[in-house]
Amino acid sequence: MPELASFIPAIVEIVKNARDHGRSIGFVPTMGALHAGHLKLMQEARRENNFVVVSIFVNPLQFDRKDDLDRYPRTLAADMAVCSTVPVDLVFTPSAAELYPREQRAFVDVPGLTNHLCGAFRPGHFRGVATVVAKLFNIVRPDRAYFGEKDAQQLAVIRRMVEDLNMPVAVVGIPTVREPDGLALSSRNKHLTAEQRQLATLLPQMINEARSRLDEGERSASTIREALEPMFRTHADVRLEYFEIVEPSTLAPVERIDGPVLIAGAIWVGSTRLIDNMRWPGGQERN
Ligand code: PAJ
Repeated sequence: MPELASFIPAIVEIVKNARDHGRSIGFVPTMGALHAGHLKLMQEARRENNFVVVSIFVNPLQFDRKDDLDRYPRTLAADMAVCSTVPVDLVFTPSAAELYPREQRAFVDVPGLTNHLCGAFRPGHFRGVATVVAKLFNIVRPDRAYFGEKDAQQLAVIRRMVEDLNMPVAVVGIPTVREPDGLALSSRNKHLTAEQRQLATLLPQMINEARSRLDEGERSASTIREALEPMFRTHADVRLEYFEIVEPSTLAPVERIDGPVLIAGAIWVGSTRLIDNMRWPGGQERN
């Protein structure tokens, strides 16, 4: 079993000891309810480092809806079992009081990158993400930190934060792990009923359909959007929040596509919000 610690001084001490023994530190920040997507990040961290730290913390600062925070799945025993299969060396499970002992006054904002996509619909979300990740980096002080491409905007925000603030950590992006039918693994998939789980596949289907149209030579983002939006008008329990074709590093919307792009979408299935994205060109994610 990996070592488990909830207090910052313990983490600092254990990681310092590993570093003093010449070990490189790989770090995977998570909110728990670990699945095969998280596992992939941990395995990659294990492959590239000789000391691996995973954090499990459902960060209140990044939730824009209280119901989402309240019902976020918390499965520590199962999460520890996943961590021990890798195996990781240390699991950090701070309480909210440990990370936020008093009102947080210092924040990390990455404006520009957060105006579109999820940032437009989740006010304060990326500020909460960047701030907690900066705090975790300062506690763990990893050599490398691992993030999923599933959350492409989050990955772009973290990369920009690290560059602009000269943080001494290498950010590693890991391709999205999917179910056989194309649905990206997500802790929130646990909320879906069997019927909703079926409807959720509309999201990767839409993104794949957009890729097919680009393959066929269509170059207008609005034409593609108009063609695909009706996919979501067939069922009352599913709603498209956004569908965007953006430049992969700035995340600025692209109307005329004449270079590599990221195709991203968010849907609501019942009261569950799901996001996904794929790059174009690139065929490795097609199911
Ligand atoms: P969480 O949603 O638990 O995700 C932790 C990491 O796993 C993120 O980097 C995410 O992109 C990655 N991940 C999730 N699903 C994945 C999938 N299907 N394939 C590959 N990687 C996947 O993202 C967060 O937590 C938080 O915002 C956090 C960064 C921990 C800050 O609180």
